[in-house]
Amino acid sequence: MTSKTLPDCSKLFIGGKWVDPAEGQFYTNENPARREPLGQVAIATGPDVEEAVRLAREAIDGNTAWTQMSPASRGRLLWRIGELIREHAEELAWLEALDTGKPYSEALHGDIPHAAAAFEYYAGWCNKLAGSVPPVSPRYLDYTRLEPVGVVGAIIPWNFPLQMAATKLAPALAAGNAVILKPAEQTPLTAMALARFFEEVELPAGVLSVLTGFGETGAALVAHPGVDKITFTGSTAVGKLIMRGAADTLKRVSLELGGKSPNVVFPDADLKRAVRGVTTGVFYNQGEMCTAGARVLVHESIYEAFLEAFTTAVADLRPGDPLDPNTRLGALVNEEQFQRVQEYVRIGREEGAELVLGGEAPAGPGYFFPPTIFTGVRPEQRIAQEEIFGPVVAVMRFSFDEEALRIANGVSYGLAAGVWTRDLSRALRFAHGLRAGTVWVNTYNALWNEAPFGGYKQSGIGREGGREGIEQYTETKNICIAL
Ligand code: NAI
Ligand code: MG
Repeated sequence: MTSKTLPDCSKLFIGGKWVDPAEGQFYTNENPARREPLGQVAIATGPDVEEAVRLAREAIDGNTAWTQMSPASRGRLLWRIGELIREHAEELAWLEALDTGKPYSEALHGDIPHAAAAFEYYAGWCNKLAGSVPPVSPRYLDYTRLEPVGVVGAIIPWNFPLQMAATKLAPALAAGNAVILKPAEQTPLTAMALARFFEEVELPAGVLSVLTGFGETGAALVAHPGVDKITFTGSTAVGKLIMRGAADTLKRVSLELGGKSPNVVFPDADLKRAVRGVTTGVFYNQGEMCTAGARVLVHESIYEAFLEAFTTAVADLRPGDPLDPNTRLGALVNEEQFQRVQEYVRIGREEGAELVLGGEAPAGPGYFFPPTIFTGVRPEQRIAQEEIFGPVVAVMRFSFDEEALRIANGVSYGLAAGVWTRDLSRALRFAHGLRAGTVWVNTYNALWNEAPFGGYKQSGIGREGGREGIEQYTETKNICIAL
């Protein structure tokens, strides 16, 4: 392992310089597994947001080092960030495990390479993002340019901190924007490490700021007239606030919000494979995933067999020290999530669902919670409708395909879904019938920088990944010349 030091979070990264927070406010970051402090974190307030926006505008308006950099050079710069992430993978995974409570090995093999790949993938787009030449009247030349939208405010959550930062920064910078990143208050560490990498590759002044702080810092970005676009990942409730707040200045918004994704197991599924996929589908990252397959729908003919194998597999997942390389289930991120999960277990019991595994937090200082299975859940119950964002799964039984589809679509969310079957027609019928942005067939949580990801319904607006993921950071300008 490379040197392991906690990044200094007591300064803000504003336009390329490390500065003290204007109003001198700080909070203490905590390690959720041990409940020990991880240092003081600066709180960015109004004047800091003001300065970051001013420098971002300076970097983006007119002929500047950033706007005049060739797309190929921009690509090389972003590629180098990907390399730096890979070179520091162990250190970054360690920071992520400390900060979030997630297993070190998951961060090392999941979050970190995914973040690096986001920069590598979008590095390649820089000099390929071309406009078009629409065939208008022969007496005119008409062409389009995909220009950067301008200053982007990126507000991210705590469940995959570096990966989320990368998913937003890589395409936004590749398209030529300036970005102000607001990490989640629970997890500032890797954002600060990432800022150092940008310093190392000599990103032009003003192009990137990293402002730590709470919701107010994010809200100040949303309100600021100098910010052209907000890209947000987090709760549906805050997504709605952001959309309202953005209306005043008619900012562009893309929102990646919550989910209550169904995982549907048909009688002809490869049962062993389905059990494995459904298990990691909901319990990976302690279930703190927007894509968590938190509703498992099982056909009645295999219900008992599936449940037995599933319960056995899940019982193997014992929460442990996130830094132990063998740990597969870490700690929840904070007190709030810990309380929220326990509250939903209480609700599930009250609603009459059957608790067949877990449900009780072990004694100790950390926010550990065991994997928890409810069976006999009815689709209208709260534990089958609301996002829990923790290691709790609701298992339901169905008799007919149409019934499964109705239950699967019967929530306000539409982020992702899983289908387990060997019948190709059935798989495709379901894939097309599901109101969800991503459908996995005989797999789950397969996420790619190359492919679009995002939600239907209240799971969000817009797509990240692939071509759509970079086009959302552009404005199309049409130019028409009379010949
Ligand atoms: P949150 O939505 O409050 O926080 C996400 C980010 O938004 C953070 O950076 C936060 O500081 C910022 N923020 C909060 N209020 C804001 C405002 N008014 N304006 C602008 N930015 C604001 O999520 P939180 O409270 O951490 O988690 C609550 C629930 O949200 C979770 O239990 C889960 O259900 C859901 N969630 C969903 C995520 C996803 O990946 N879609 C990620 C994290 C949480
Ligand atoms: Mg933390």
